[in-house]
Amino acid sequence: MLISDTWPRSGRVTLKPFTEGLTEEEWRRFYECFRDPEIAEWNGSRPLRMPIWLFKRVVMGEVARGDRLGFGILDEGGEWLGTVELYDLSRTDATLGILIGAKDRWGQGYGTDAVRAVLRYAFERMNLQRVRLKTFKHNLRAQKAFQKAGFRVVSVVPAPTPRPSISLGPSRPKAEERRLEDVHMEVTREEWQSLG
Ligand SMILES: CC(C)(COP(=O)(O)OP(=O)(O)OC[C@H]1O[C@@H](n2cnc3c(N)ncnc32)[C@H](O)[C@@H]1OP(=O)(O)O)[C@@H](O)C(=O)NCCC(=O)NCCS
Repeated sequence: MLISDTWPRSGRVTLKPFTEGLTEEEWRRFYECFRDPEIAEWNGSRPLRMPIWLFKRVVMGEVARGDRLGFGILDEGGEWLGTVELYDLSRTDATLGILIGAKDRWGQGYGTDAVRAVLRYAFERMNLQRVRLKTFKHNLRAQKAFQKAGFRVVSVVPAPTPRPSISLGPSRPKAEERRLEDVHMEVTREEWQSLG
């Protein structure tokens, strides 16, 4: 596994930019993560149904347009665990999304490391002023990881009809019927710098 010194890192995690090109195995893991019903549920989306060739085309189209900045999350051995992305990009702000597809790795600190690495990239290399995100109120694991990396809660609001984190399918009305709540979180550049 070739890992470049220039890729963002934190703790045990290295972030591989999508622009570096993914191996077939990495594409497979990426795709399977978006097809997993449990992960989709946590993410407020529907499991992906499109074939992998179309998935690749959609992702690479978004990358080429600069709509989103995506990274594979690699562990200390270079193994693909999931993805972390910055989207809704403006000159100053971005929204963060993260999915670890390797469920047996949840709760071991990889998500926190990945968020720390992408925040450093956002504030130091992209010079952004603020990174936002939203997650379900019942997703305590995600909130804990985000808080450990520097995010604070801004508001808790009823969730609108959830949309997939990647524009690959229709929304899931069932979640709205269950009156889920969204926690909106953010971290500013100053707050992040004060973490040291
Ligand atoms: C959310 C996610 C990225 C977090 O990554 P992770 O590697 O599992 O998280 P970390 O291990 O870095 O941190 C999780 C923390 O939450 C804690 N935690 C786990 N389950 C918890 C629960 N039910 N209640 C409270 N805390 C919990 C862990 O103990 C850990 O805290 P600690 O390090 O102080 O012990 C990952 O679990 C994931 O991809 N989940 C599925 C998709 C998802 O929810 N994505 C986010 C959508 S916004």
